[in-house]
Amino acid sequence: MSPTTAVKPIKFKNPRAQHDFKGRSCSIVGLGSYVPERILTNADLEKTVDTSDEWITTRTGIRERRIAAENEFTSDIASKAALRAMSQAGVTGNQIDLIIVATITPDMLFPSTACLVQQKIGARRAAAFDLEAACSGFIYGLEIGQQFIMSRTYDTVLVIGAEKLSTIIDWSDRNTCVLFGDGGGAAVLQNRPNSHGLLTACMGADGGKAELLCMPGGGSRCPATTQSVANRLHYLRMDGKETFKHAVKAMLTAAQEAMRRCEIDITKIKCIIPHQANRRIIDAVGERLGARPEQLFVNLEKYGNTSAGSVAIALDEAVQSGRIQQGDLLLLIVFGAGLTWGAAVIEW
Ligand code: UT7
Repeated sequence: MSPTTAVKPIKFKNPRAQHDFKGRSCSIVGLGSYVPERILTNADLEKTVDTSDEWITTRTGIRERRIAAENEFTSDIASKAALRAMSQAGVTGNQIDLIIVATITPDMLFPSTACLVQQKIGARRAAAFDLEAACSGFIYGLEIGQQFIMSRTYDTVLVIGAEKLSTIIDWSDRNTCVLFGDGGGAAVLQNRPNSHGLLTACMGADGGKAELLCMPGGGSRCPATTQSVANRLHYLRMDGKETFKHAVKAMLTAAQEAMRRCEIDITKIKCIIPHQANRRIIDAVGERLGARPEQLFVNLEKYGNTSAGSVAIALDEAVQSGRIQQGDLLLLIVFGAGLTWGAAVIEW
């Protein structure tokens, strides 16, 4: 990434816009993403469940998704994305102070996937933990990482969103199996003034709607038994219609809050990077925000919904594509199970 010294910094009056807060700023100094090689197309799914390419593309915008190999786990996906972000940032494993892995598909219930990543990327000094905020996990991770940087607790924080969702998908349920895919993305955070500043990140949740999108089995409420497996409780379940409605509302609220904190409106945003769950959700949020269609970054046709990986992969691809220039303002918006939501503003 190129240095941004030539760009005149934007002055924010609102103290909650945390760029250069008390002489400290939090920047994204490296990005990376990784998706598995194997592609599963809508045509492939037509052969296994009662669906059609036409239904999937018109209702969701998804054309294909990636599926990890049997011996490729979430920690592998996370580590591959992390190593790319570290290489871009010019950071070695030894320099990393903290690893946060956002995921709903950890390699094991414990220990954390973050600990397994620590080994795989050689970050021996780093503290490591997982965070579970479903599809909102990457923004939750950015906000948490930002707090550690701003408070001077840590100098280098690695935030990863990664999933192997193919292991919790009921491949006989057409309502859900067409929607999801595997993949991950990562960001390295540091106090590096004049680099890509994370201006604000905000998070929200509503546990009253937990049942709308969940995996009932496998936890302390419903541990694995022969019966729980027979009842297919170890797969993701979703009330799609209700989730859709809440997604649009919550993403709108989160985006407005993030922009309010920075005292900007949608016209100042160069690129909106929303959670990649459904093209219709993205368009509805964009329209309600008063955004122009060309402000929206969409890549879900290639990957489907990769949950915590989604905006992390999209952010990396948006930057790689050359669509974002230094000094541009980006708006990331997420929504997921919990319910959870969040948004972030980044000055690139
Ligand atoms: O990442 C977390 C956030 N996730 C989301 O935000 C996802 C939110 N929900 C959605 O994206 C949409 O609700 C879905 C894509 C899941 C479903 O779209 P929809 O327009 O809400 O469809 P629906 O569930 O109302 O189903 C309409 C019809 C039903 O048939 P009937 O009852 O009208 O005869 C479904 O059985 O479409 C049927 N259907 C399918 N048909 C072909 C559902 N899935 C499929 C399918 N192929 N894969």
